[in-house]
Amino acid sequence: MAGQTAQIGMIGLGVMGRNLLLNMADHGYAVAGYDRNPEQVAALVREGAGKPVIAETELAAFLKRLKLPRAVMLLVPAGGPVDAVITELLPLLARGDLIIDGGNSYFEETERRCRDLSQQGFPFLGVGVSGGEEGARRGPSLMPGGAREAYPRVQKLLEAIAASVDGVPCVAWLGSGSAGHYVKMVHNGIEYGLMQLIAESYDLMKRGLGLDNQRLQEVYRGWNRGALNGYLMEITADIFGQIDDRTGHDRIDVILDAARQKGTGMWIAQNAMTLQVPIPIIDMAVMMRDLSGFKEQRERVALELGSAVQPFEDDPEELLPALEQALYAAMILTFGQGLALLHKASEVRDYGVDLAEVTRIWRGGCIIRAALLDGLRAAYLRNPGLANLLFDPHLAQEVLAREQDLRRVVSAAVRSGVPVPGLMAALAYLDGYRSARLPANLIQAQRDYFGAHTYERIDAAGKFHSEWQRS
Ligand code: 6PG
Repeated sequence: MAGQTAQIGMIGLGVMGRNLLLNMADHGYAVAGYDRNPEQVAALVREGAGKPVIAETELAAFLKRLKLPRAVMLLVPAGGPVDAVITELLPLLARGDLIIDGGNSYFEETERRCRDLSQQGFPFLGVGVSGGEEGARRGPSLMPGGAREAYPRVQKLLEAIAASVDGVPCVAWLGSGSAGHYVKMVHNGIEYGLMQLIAESYDLMKRGLGLDNQRLQEVYRGWNRGALNGYLMEITADIFGQIDDRTGHDRIDVILDAARQKGTGMWIAQNAMTLQVPIPIIDMAVMMRDLSGFKEQRERVALELGSAVQPFEDDPEELLPALEQALYAAMILTFGQGLALLHKASEVRDYGVDLAEVTRIWRGGCIIRAALLDGLRAAYLRNPGLANLLFDPHLAQEVLAREQDLRRVVSAAVRSGVPVPGLMAALAYLDGYRSARLPANLIQAQRDYFGAHTYERIDAAGKFHSEWQRS
């Protein structure tokens, strides 16, 4: 192919960029890809054989292949590399060319890029892409935001490549500026929370109940057939059946117990603190990844202090159904926390995010897709302004119906010493949120006592101060 034939170009041909491009080509779009690494370009040539795919190793040559006005998508590591590519691109682009960032960029950076680029005449979209390599290739969930007027230029393309549920593509316009990347950050925060909760169930069943990997696989498979059905449950069941090629042992047992992160989990925890919206299950998930990283210290302390873990006294056949219900309640609360933050952020940042649409586009393609999203979406359709999912009577009932199971599982974990901070945070959040009176009156009193910070009263408006040491 020669000339300006490609409808969209991709910069960054790592597996995500390549797969997304091949997905576009499969849907009949003529596409071009560029990467400064010739090996990635060669991979695109190989995998794109027979498809309308152009691959280039020179940026200028690549840009010449794109129809005008151009649409250029970036799938490069978040942070500095995105700015570096944009800086290199700008002198070679014409005003009106569209730049799309499909990476996991920090939303404040997306906000800045959107503003700066639009001032220079370049519309910019920040698009959250979820679903990993397979999702990118076969149908991701897409979370676009940015320059509204530019969205129609790629809307059909994004709808064509996205996953679809009930025949409707898992993509929706989410709002201006950084809305798309903010929603993706919330998606990832929920992802962290759900993964932590599932990991805690694994620990409870393995160290607490003594189940082997085969039994664990059966349990997760069973759960995936029920209300807990979802992608993360499905891959968890799969993981417990896999064998390590090197040793012939179960692969799960040869994997180091130290989980890392690329940043989205930390960002959501930080931003939730800034907006003063509690998301403790997600915070705990981030914290436990951090704690897992202290592997050597944990080993040393375990040696010196000994492990607290005692096998459960509970009958597995009784505890397992309770655990399933407890997980379900905690998962609803995890989604609820992430979405409550999104509700607040949308107000503060004026995104105008439609949470029914967010829960709809998360039903397919993405990592947190799960059967329970149907119920969450129904709640937002009933009441689009819900500040917290617990205000929805149906969902509140779903959680309350499982409250005793959650208490039972957390109590059993506390007695046996298996750490379940995510489940505990879920329960504490529920208990805290439904407490009309919390002990924060004492905290107000203490602050005023030692620092004259004043306090508010229950019987009169305004700020008050007492001379505590003289009373
Ligand atoms: C997805 C994933 C994907 C990736 C994240 C999380 O939605 O497809 O969230 O974006 O797995 O980068 O990675 P960390 O666990 O390293 O933060």
